[in-house]
Amino acid sequence: MSAQKIVLLPGDGIGVEIVAEAKKALDALAKRFGRSFDFDERLIGGAAIDATGDPLPEETLAACRGADAILLGAVGGPKWDDPKAKVRPEQGLLRIRKALGLYANLRPVKAWPGLEDASPLRRERIEGVDLLFVRELTGGIYFGEPREEGSERALDTMVYTRPEVERVVELAFRLAAERKKHVTSIDKANVLASMRLWRTVATEVGARHPDVKLEHQLVDSMAMRLVTSPADFDVVVAGNMFGDILSDEGAVLTGTLGLLPSASLGDPGAPGLYEPIHGSAPDIAGKGVANPVATVLSAAMMLRLSLDQAEAADALEVAVQQALTKARTRDLGGDASTAAMGDAIVAALLG
Ligand code: NAD
Ligand code: IPM
Ligand code: MN
Repeated sequence: MSAQKIVLLPGDGIGVEIVAEAKKALDALAKRFGRSFDFDERLIGGAAIDATGDPLPEETLAACRGADAILLGAVGGPKWDDPKAKVRPEQGLLRIRKALGLYANLRPVKAWPGLEDASPLRRERIEGVDLLFVRELTGGIYFGEPREEGSERALDTMVYTRPEVERVVELAFRLAAERKKHVTSIDKANVLASMRLWRTVATEVGARHPDVKLEHQLVDSMAMRLVTSPADFDVVVAGNMFGDILSDEGAVLTGTLGLLPSASLGDPGAPGLYEPIHGSAPDIAGKGVANPVATVLSAAMMLRLSLDQAEAADALEVAVQQALTKARTRDLGGDASTAAMGDAIVAALLG
Protein backbone atom coordinates (compact mmCIF):
# COMPACT_ATOMS: atom_id res chain seq x y z
CA MET A 1 0.00 0.00 0.00
CA SER A 2 1.49 3.38 -0.95
CA ALA A 3 1.76 6.09 1.69
CA GLN A 4 -1.46 7.92 2.38
CA LYS A 5 -1.17 11.67 2.06
CA ILE A 6 -2.23 13.67 5.11
CA VAL A 7 -2.16 17.46 5.06
CA LEU A 8 -1.48 18.88 8.52
CA LEU A 9 -2.87 22.35 9.23
CA PRO A 10 -1.71 23.25 12.76
CA GLY A 11 -3.00 26.84 12.55
CA ASP A 12 -2.68 29.08 15.60
CA GLY A 13 -2.32 29.01 19.37
CA ILE A 14 -2.57 25.53 20.86
CA GLY A 15 -3.27 24.20 17.33
CA VAL A 16 0.48 23.90 16.82
CA GLU A 17 1.00 22.03 20.11
CA ILE A 18 -1.84 19.53 19.73
CA VAL A 19 -1.25 18.68 16.06
CA ALA A 20 2.36 17.84 16.95
CA GLU A 21 1.07 15.26 19.45
CA ALA A 22 -1.41 13.79 16.97
CA LYS A 23 1.41 13.43 14.44
CA LYS A 24 3.47 11.63 17.07
CA ALA A 25 0.61 9.20 17.63
CA LEU A 26 0.19 8.65 13.87
CA ASP A 27 3.92 7.98 13.50
CA ALA A 28 3.68 5.39 16.28
CA LEU A 29 0.66 3.78 14.60
CA ALA A 30 2.48 3.62 11.28
CA LYS A 31 5.30 1.80 13.03
CA ARG A 32 2.95 -0.61 14.77
CA PHE A 33 0.94 -1.44 11.66
CA GLY A 34 3.80 -1.32 9.16
CA ARG A 35 2.24 1.53 7.21
CA SER A 36 3.51 4.93 6.26
CA PHE A 37 1.95 8.36 6.06
CA ASP A 38 3.12 11.14 3.85
CA PHE A 39 2.67 14.33 5.91
CA ASP A 40 2.48 17.71 4.25
CA GLU A 41 2.30 20.64 6.68
CA ARG A 42 0.68 23.85 5.45
CA LEU A 43 -0.41 27.26 6.68
CA ILE A 44 -3.93 28.33 7.61
CA GLY A 45 -5.49 31.02 9.79
CA GLY A 46 -3.52 33.74 11.52
CA ALA A 47 -0.18 32.07 10.76
CA ALA A 48 -1.09 32.19 7.06
CA ILE A 49 -2.18 35.84 7.29
CA ASP A 50 1.18 36.73 8.84
CA ALA A 51 3.12 34.86 6.15
CA THR A 52 1.04 35.62 3.05
CA GLY A 53 -1.76 38.04 3.91
CA ASP A 54 -4.33 35.31 3.17
CA PRO A 55 -5.87 33.00 5.82
CA LEU A 56 -6.22 30.24 3.19
CA PRO A 57 -3.35 30.53 0.70
CA GLU A 58 -3.92 28.94 -2.71
CA GLU A 59 -1.13 26.40 -2.16
CA THR A 60 -2.75 25.23 1.09
CA LEU A 61 -6.06 24.64 -0.66
CA ALA A 62 -4.34 22.90 -3.58
CA ALA A 63 -2.47 20.57 -1.18
CA CYS A 64 -5.75 19.78 0.61
CA ARG A 65 -7.52 18.97 -2.66
CA GLY A 66 -4.79 16.46 -3.44
CA ALA A 67 -4.76 14.85 0.00
CA ASP A 68 -6.37 11.67 1.29
CA ALA A 69 -7.31 13.52 4.47
CA ILE A 70 -6.66 16.74 6.39
CA LEU A 71 -5.93 17.15 10.09
CA LEU A 72 -6.41 20.65 11.48
CA GLY A 73 -5.59 22.17 14.88
CA ALA A 74 -7.34 25.49 15.38
CA VAL A 75 -7.28 29.03 14.05
CA GLY A 76 -7.61 32.49 15.57
CA GLY A 77 -6.30 34.52 18.45
CA PRO A 78 -6.16 38.00 19.96
CA LYS A 79 -3.46 39.14 17.52
CA TRP A 80 -5.97 39.04 14.66
CA ASP A 81 -9.11 39.99 16.60
CA ASP A 82 -9.44 43.67 15.67
CA PRO A 83 -13.13 44.02 14.68
CA LYS A 84 -12.07 46.41 11.89
CA ALA A 85 -9.66 43.91 10.31
CA LYS A 86 -10.51 42.98 6.72
CA VAL A 87 -9.01 39.50 6.90
CA ARG A 88 -9.58 37.13 9.81
CA PRO A 89 -8.13 33.69 10.59
CA GLU A 90 -11.63 32.21 10.89
CA GLN A 91 -12.31 33.07 7.23
CA GLY A 92 -9.65 30.51 6.30
CA LEU A 93 -11.56 27.78 8.10
CA LEU A 94 -14.93 28.74 6.63
CA ARG A 95 -13.43 28.93 3.14
CA ILE A 96 -11.75 25.53 3.29
CA ARG A 97 -15.00 23.90 4.48
CA LYS A 98 -16.92 25.55 1.65
CA ALA A 99 -14.28 24.98 -1.04
CA LEU A 100 -14.11 21.25 -0.29
CA GLY A 101 -17.90 20.95 0.03
CA LEU A 102 -17.70 19.60 3.58
CA TYR A 103 -21.35 20.04 4.48
CA ALA A 104 -21.58 17.64 7.42
CA ASN A 105 -19.64 17.99 10.65
CA LEU A 106 -19.80 14.90 12.89
CA ARG A 107 -19.13 15.62 16.56
CA PRO A 108 -19.45 12.56 18.80
CA VAL A 109 -19.83 13.05 22.57
CA LYS A 110 -19.39 10.04 24.82
CA ALA A 111 -19.17 9.47 28.54
CA TRP A 112 -15.69 8.07 29.12
CA PRO A 113 -15.50 5.27 31.67
CA GLY A 114 -13.38 6.55 34.54
CA LEU A 115 -13.84 10.19 33.60
CA GLU A 116 -17.40 10.66 34.84
CA ASP A 117 -16.13 12.82 37.68
CA ALA A 118 -14.54 15.28 35.24
CA SER A 119 -17.99 16.63 34.40
CA PRO A 120 -19.68 19.18 36.64
CA LEU A 121 -22.87 17.16 36.12
CA ARG A 122 -23.84 14.34 38.44
CA ARG A 123 -22.44 10.93 37.52
CA GLU A 124 -25.90 9.38 37.04
CA ARG A 125 -26.71 11.99 34.38
CA ILE A 126 -23.49 11.31 32.46
CA GLU A 127 -23.59 7.52 32.50
CA GLY A 128 -24.76 6.09 29.20
CA VAL A 129 -24.26 9.32 27.26
CA ASP A 130 -23.39 8.46 23.65
CA LEU A 131 -24.57 11.06 21.20
CA LEU A 132 -23.51 12.30 17.82
CA PHE A 133 -24.01 15.86 16.69
CA VAL A 134 -24.38 16.23 12.94
CA ARG A 135 -23.85 19.91 12.27
CA GLU A 136 -24.63 21.44 8.87
CA LEU A 137 -21.36 23.14 7.96
CA THR A 138 -21.54 25.05 4.68
CA GLY A 139 -24.82 26.94 4.87
CA GLY A 140 -27.07 28.96 7.13
CA ILE A 141 -26.16 32.24 8.77
CA TYR A 142 -22.41 31.53 8.41
CA PHE A 143 -22.74 31.81 4.64
CA GLY A 144 -25.36 34.51 4.22
CA GLU A 145 -24.81 38.05 3.05
CA PRO A 146 -23.14 39.97 5.85
CA ARG A 147 -23.32 43.74 5.54
CA GLU A 148 -21.86 46.48 7.62
CA GLU A 149 -23.80 49.70 7.08
CA GLY A 150 -21.65 52.45 8.54
CA SER A 151 -21.16 52.35 12.29
CA GLU A 152 -24.83 52.09 13.30
CA ARG A 153 -26.21 48.99 11.61
CA ALA A 154 -24.92 45.60 10.54
CA LEU A 155 -26.73 42.50 9.39
CA ASP A 156 -26.36 38.83 8.53
CA THR A 157 -28.81 36.71 6.62
CA MET A 158 -29.78 33.11 7.29
CA VAL A 159 -30.72 31.07 4.26
CA TYR A 160 -31.32 27.35 3.91
CA THR A 161 -32.31 25.60 0.72
CA ARG A 162 -34.12 22.27 0.47
CA PRO A 163 -31.10 20.32 -0.90
CA GLU A 164 -28.83 21.72 1.83
CA VAL A 165 -31.18 20.51 4.56
CA GLU A 166 -32.02 17.27 2.84
CA ARG A 167 -28.45 15.97 2.39
CA VAL A 168 -27.36 16.60 5.97
CA VAL A 169 -30.57 15.25 7.53
CA GLU A 170 -30.39 12.22 5.24
CA LEU A 171 -26.85 11.55 6.51
CA ALA A 172 -28.07 11.91 10.11
CA PHE A 173 -30.73 9.25 9.47
CA ARG A 174 -28.26 6.89 7.83
CA LEU A 175 -25.92 7.24 10.81
CA ALA A 176 -28.77 6.77 13.29
CA ALA A 177 -29.83 3.57 11.51
CA GLU A 178 -26.47 2.08 12.57
CA ARG A 179 -26.80 3.39 16.14
CA LYS A 180 -29.81 3.80 18.46
CA LYS A 181 -32.24 4.65 15.64
CA HIS A 182 -33.23 8.02 17.00
CA VAL A 183 -32.77 11.41 15.31
CA THR A 184 -33.41 14.68 17.12
CA SER A 185 -33.72 17.54 14.65
CA ILE A 186 -32.99 20.96 16.11
CA ASP A 187 -34.68 24.11 14.84
CA LYS A 188 -36.36 27.36 15.78
CA ALA A 189 -39.41 26.76 13.61
CA ASN A 190 -41.61 28.77 15.99
CA VAL A 191 -39.83 31.97 14.90
CA LEU A 192 -37.67 31.60 11.79
CA ALA A 193 -38.81 30.90 8.21
CA SER A 194 -35.56 29.10 7.33
CA MET A 195 -36.15 26.82 10.30
CA ARG A 196 -39.70 26.02 9.21
CA LEU A 197 -38.21 24.80 5.93
CA TRP A 198 -35.69 22.82 8.00
CA ARG A 199 -38.50 21.14 9.94
CA THR A 200 -40.57 20.41 6.84
CA VAL A 201 -37.65 18.80 5.03
CA ALA A 202 -36.55 16.87 8.15
CA THR A 203 -40.07 15.46 8.44
CA GLU A 204 -40.03 14.38 4.79
CA VAL A 205 -36.63 12.72 5.13
CA GLY A 206 -37.84 11.04 8.31
CA ALA A 207 -40.79 9.54 6.42
CA ARG A 208 -38.29 7.74 4.18
CA HIS A 209 -36.72 6.11 7.27
CA PRO A 210 -39.59 4.50 9.17
CA ASP A 211 -37.20 2.43 11.32
CA VAL A 212 -35.65 5.52 12.82
CA LYS A 213 -37.58 7.67 15.27
CA LEU A 214 -37.63 11.40 14.52
CA GLU A 215 -38.12 14.01 17.19
CA HIS A 216 -38.18 17.78 16.59
CA GLN A 217 -36.77 19.94 19.34
CA LEU A 218 -36.58 23.71 19.53
CA VAL A 219 -33.00 24.86 20.08
CA ASP A 220 -33.62 26.77 23.29
CA SER A 221 -35.23 23.87 25.14
CA MET A 222 -32.61 21.55 23.62
CA ALA A 223 -29.94 23.61 25.37
CA MET A 224 -31.69 22.70 28.61
CA ARG A 225 -32.38 19.03 27.83
CA LEU A 226 -28.78 18.47 26.78
CA VAL A 227 -27.62 18.97 30.34
CA THR A 228 -30.67 17.65 32.20
CA SER A 229 -31.10 14.40 30.25
CA PRO A 230 -28.19 13.92 27.83
CA ALA A 231 -28.54 10.13 27.74
CA ASP A 232 -31.92 10.57 25.96
CA PHE A 233 -30.19 11.46 22.69
CA ASP A 234 -28.64 9.52 19.84
CA VAL A 235 -28.08 11.55 16.65
CA VAL A 236 -28.72 15.28 16.95
CA VAL A 237 -28.87 17.14 13.63
CA ALA A 238 -28.72 20.92 13.56
CA GLY A 239 -27.99 23.90 11.35
CA ASN A 240 -24.59 25.53 11.30
CA MET A 241 -24.86 27.98 14.19
CA PHE A 242 -27.11 25.95 16.48
CA GLY A 243 -24.83 22.94 15.95
CA ASP A 244 -21.78 25.03 16.80
CA ILE A 245 -23.27 26.24 20.07
CA LEU A 246 -24.88 22.98 21.22
CA SER A 247 -21.75 20.94 20.57
CA ASP A 248 -19.64 23.20 22.79
CA GLU A 249 -22.34 22.72 25.42
CA GLY A 250 -21.81 19.00 24.88
CA ALA A 251 -18.29 19.47 26.25
CA VAL A 252 -19.86 19.95 29.68
CA LEU A 253 -20.88 16.29 29.53
CA THR A 254 -17.28 15.13 29.25
CA GLY A 255 -15.94 17.91 31.46
CA THR A 256 -13.67 19.54 28.86
CA LEU A 257 -13.57 20.71 25.28
CA GLY A 258 -10.17 19.02 25.15
CA LEU A 259 -11.76 15.60 24.56
CA LEU A 260 -14.13 16.28 21.66
CA PRO A 261 -13.10 15.39 18.08
CA SER A 262 -14.86 16.03 14.79
CA ALA A 263 -15.00 14.95 11.17
CA SER A 264 -16.14 17.21 8.34
CA LEU A 265 -17.35 15.26 5.33
CA GLY A 266 -18.69 16.02 1.89
CA ASP A 267 -19.67 14.07 -1.15
CA PRO A 268 -17.58 11.01 -2.10
CA GLY A 269 -14.25 12.13 -3.49
CA ALA A 270 -13.86 15.15 -1.23
CA PRO A 271 -11.05 14.70 1.30
CA GLY A 272 -12.36 14.66 4.87
CA LEU A 273 -11.19 17.33 7.30
CA TYR A 274 -10.63 16.33 10.92
CA GLU A 275 -10.30 18.75 13.81
CA PRO A 276 -11.03 19.10 17.50
CA ILE A 277 -14.21 21.11 18.15
CA HIS A 278 -12.37 23.58 20.39
CA GLY A 279 -10.44 26.67 19.33
CA SER A 280 -6.92 27.99 19.66
CA ALA A 281 -7.31 28.59 23.43
CA PRO A 282 -5.27 31.81 23.67
CA ASP A 283 -5.48 31.68 27.47
CA ILE A 284 -3.24 28.60 27.59
CA ALA A 285 -1.41 28.78 24.23
CA GLY A 286 2.36 28.35 24.36
CA LYS A 287 2.29 26.92 27.89
CA GLY A 288 2.41 23.25 26.91
CA VAL A 289 -0.67 22.40 28.97
CA ALA A 290 -3.35 21.95 26.28
CA ASN A 291 -5.09 18.60 26.08
CA PRO A 292 -4.17 16.89 22.77
CA VAL A 293 -6.78 14.12 23.12
CA ALA A 294 -9.48 15.81 21.00
CA THR A 295 -7.00 16.08 18.14
CA VAL A 296 -5.72 12.52 18.57
CA LEU A 297 -9.34 11.27 18.56
CA SER A 298 -9.93 13.36 15.42
CA ALA A 299 -7.00 11.48 13.88
CA ALA A 300 -8.75 8.22 14.85
CA MET A 301 -11.91 9.39 13.06
CA MET A 302 -9.70 10.22 10.06
CA LEU A 303 -8.23 6.72 10.01
CA ARG A 304 -11.69 5.18 10.15
CA LEU A 305 -13.66 7.46 7.82
CA SER A 306 -11.11 8.60 5.22
CA LEU A 307 -8.16 6.21 5.30
CA ASP A 308 -9.90 2.85 5.52
CA GLN A 309 -7.89 1.88 8.59
CA ALA A 310 -10.53 0.83 11.10
CA GLU A 311 -8.13 -1.42 12.98
CA ALA A 312 -5.62 1.39 13.50
CA ALA A 313 -8.47 3.73 14.52
CA ASP A 314 -9.63 1.24 17.17
CA ALA A 315 -6.06 0.80 18.41
CA LEU A 316 -5.65 4.56 18.75
CA GLU A 317 -8.89 4.95 20.69
CA VAL A 318 -7.95 2.12 23.04
CA ALA A 319 -4.52 3.71 23.52
CA VAL A 320 -6.13 7.04 24.45
CA GLN A 321 -8.35 5.30 26.96
CA GLN A 322 -5.35 3.52 28.52
CA ALA A 323 -3.25 6.68 28.52
CA LEU A 324 -5.98 8.59 30.37
CA THR A 325 -5.66 6.16 33.26
CA LYS A 326 -1.99 7.17 33.58
CA ALA A 327 -1.80 10.82 32.56
CA ARG A 328 -4.22 13.75 32.45
CA THR A 329 -3.79 17.35 31.44
CA ARG A 330 -4.82 20.27 33.62
CA ASP A 331 -8.35 20.59 32.16
CA LEU A 332 -8.99 17.07 33.53
CA GLY A 333 -7.53 17.89 36.93
CA GLY A 334 -4.10 16.36 36.19
CA ASP A 335 -0.66 17.86 35.77
CA ALA A 336 0.59 16.17 32.59
CA SER A 337 1.94 18.47 29.91
CA THR A 338 0.67 18.31 26.33
CA ALA A 339 3.81 16.40 25.31
CA ALA A 340 3.57 14.02 28.29
CA MET A 341 -0.03 13.22 27.36
CA GLY A 342 1.10 12.53 23.79
CA ASP A 343 3.94 10.35 25.11
CA ALA A 344 1.48 8.37 27.23
CA ILE A 345 -0.61 7.67 24.13
CA VAL A 346 2.47 6.59 22.16
CA ALA A 347 3.56 4.36 25.05
CA ALA A 348 0.12 2.72 25.13
CA LEU A 349 0.31 2.16 21.37
CA LEU A 350 3.76 0.66 21.31
CA GLY A 351 3.91 -0.81 24.81
P1 NAD B 1 -11.57 27.90 22.76
O1 NAD B 1 -12.24 26.65 22.39
O2 NAD B 1 -10.30 28.23 22.10
O3 NAD B 1 -11.35 27.93 24.34
C1 NAD B 1 -12.42 27.87 25.28
C2 NAD B 1 -11.89 27.41 26.65
O4 NAD B 1 -11.58 26.03 26.59
C3 NAD B 1 -10.59 28.11 27.06
O5 NAD B 1 -10.60 28.31 28.45
C4 NAD B 1 -9.51 27.11 26.66
O6 NAD B 1 -8.34 27.20 27.44
C5 NAD B 1 -10.21 25.79 26.89
N1 NAD B 1 -9.71 24.76 25.95
C6 NAD B 1 -9.98 24.67 24.63
N2 NAD B 1 -9.32 23.65 24.10
C7 NAD B 1 -8.59 23.08 25.08
C8 NAD B 1 -7.70 21.98 25.15
N3 NAD B 1 -7.40 21.24 24.08
N4 NAD B 1 -7.13 21.68 26.33
C9 NAD B 1 -7.42 22.39 27.44
N5 NAD B 1 -8.27 23.44 27.44
C10 NAD B 1 -8.85 23.79 26.27
O7 NAD B 1 -12.65 29.07 22.50
P2 NAD B 1 -12.49 30.67 22.54
O8 NAD B 1 -11.57 31.06 23.63
O9 NAD B 1 -13.86 31.19 22.52
O10 NAD B 1 -11.82 31.03 21.16
C11 NAD B 1 -10.43 31.30 21.00
C12 NAD B 1 -10.08 31.46 19.54
O11 NAD B 1 -10.25 30.22 18.86
C13 NAD B 1 -10.96 32.45 18.76
O12 NAD B 1 -10.12 33.18 17.91
C14 NAD B 1 -11.90 31.59 17.98
O13 NAD B 1 -12.35 32.18 16.79
C15 NAD B 1 -11.05 30.39 17.69
N6 NAD B 1 -11.77 29.15 17.46
C16 NAD B 1 -11.30 28.36 16.47
C17 NAD B 1 -11.87 27.12 16.25
C18 NAD B 1 -11.34 26.28 15.16
O14 NAD B 1 -10.29 26.56 14.64
N7 NAD B 1 -12.02 25.22 14.77
C19 NAD B 1 -12.92 26.69 17.07
C20 NAD B 1 -13.38 27.52 18.09
C21 NAD B 1 -12.78 28.76 18.29
C1 IPM C 1 -15.78 25.66 15.23
C2 IPM C 1 -15.44 27.12 15.39
C3 IPM C 1 -15.63 27.83 14.05
C4 IPM C 1 -17.13 27.79 13.74
C5 IPM C 1 -15.12 29.28 13.96
C6 IPM C 1 -13.71 29.42 14.45
C7 IPM C 1 -15.23 29.79 12.56
O1 IPM C 1 -16.16 27.70 16.41
O2 IPM C 1 -15.17 24.99 14.39
O3 IPM C 1 -16.65 25.17 15.96
O4 IPM C 1 -17.90 28.60 14.28
O5 IPM C 1 -17.50 26.95 12.93
MN1 MN D 1 -17.27 26.26 17.61
